[in-house]
Amino acid sequence: MCEELEHCELGTQEYWNNRYQEEVKNYQSHGDVGEIWFGEDIVDRIIKWMKTAHSEKSCRVLDIGCGNGMLLIELYNEGFKNVVGVDYSENAITLAKSIATKLQCNIEFSVCDIIDENIKLSDFDVILDKGSYDAISLSFNAKENRNKYIENVHKILKATGILIITSCNWTQEELIEQFKTHFDLKECIPTPEYKFGGKVGNIVTSIVFKQKINIENYLFYFILNTIHY
Ligand SMILES: C[S@@+](CC[C@H](N)C(=O)[O-])C[C@H]1O[C@@H](n2cnc3c(N)ncnc32)[C@H](O)[C@@H]1O
Repeated sequence: MCEELEHCELGTQEYWNNRYQEEVKNYQSHGDVGEIWFGEDIVDRIIKWMKTAHSEKSCRVLDIGCGNGMLLIELYNEGFKNVVGVDYSENAITLAKSIATKLQCNIEFSVCDIIDENIKLSDFDVILDKGSYDAISLSFNAKENRNKYIENVHKILKATGILIITSCNWTQEELIEQFKTHFDLKECIPTPEYKFGGKVGNIVTSIVFKQKINIENYLFYFILNTIHY
């Protein structure tokens, strides 16, 4: 069992809206795209993994809590054109749209709360999350919200789909434990290591999950496909 994190302002929509309001102003005044969470190196590692392990560039990709949209913009420039970004902060979406338009990237960005019970998204091959599950883990009622997140991601991802989640709040083992009801570990993307007191650890964890294959999943997708055709 993982202990819950103490909730704080980073777990609130108000915090992100205010923060992105400032970032929109900065972008408009001097073209600064704002923070690249966890740094460029992590972005490069995710993209490198996508290019080698998931070579199908037409795959449908969703970035949850896309913020300024830079991860998708980088992916788009690497040839992944079927990409969508969502964030529950309207100001984040305003910022992402402005940057993408300026850089001539035809990416769909929209406002969406990933833990919404009536979520309208579906059928993604790849879902990316860099820091958004972390933010949800810092919300009030975090455990409930984390479970809603896991259920929704499971629902909107294809049966053969993968989830790539990058976190600085949870270790690899904790994420595997939390996601085990709906996901199995596929792979860990190596992240920079640090040494402290003779122990080696990672500050950031980047992990690839695949949908858990169980009889319910098989039946669900069998019925869905039968209805489609
Ligand atoms: C640490 S930032 C990371 C932003 C972006 N992924 C990046 O790497 O630059 C967390 C993001 O998650 C978004 N977020 C938090 N909770 C969310 C939710 N329930 N639904 C959608 N987005 C959410 C925030 O608005 C914020 O943009």
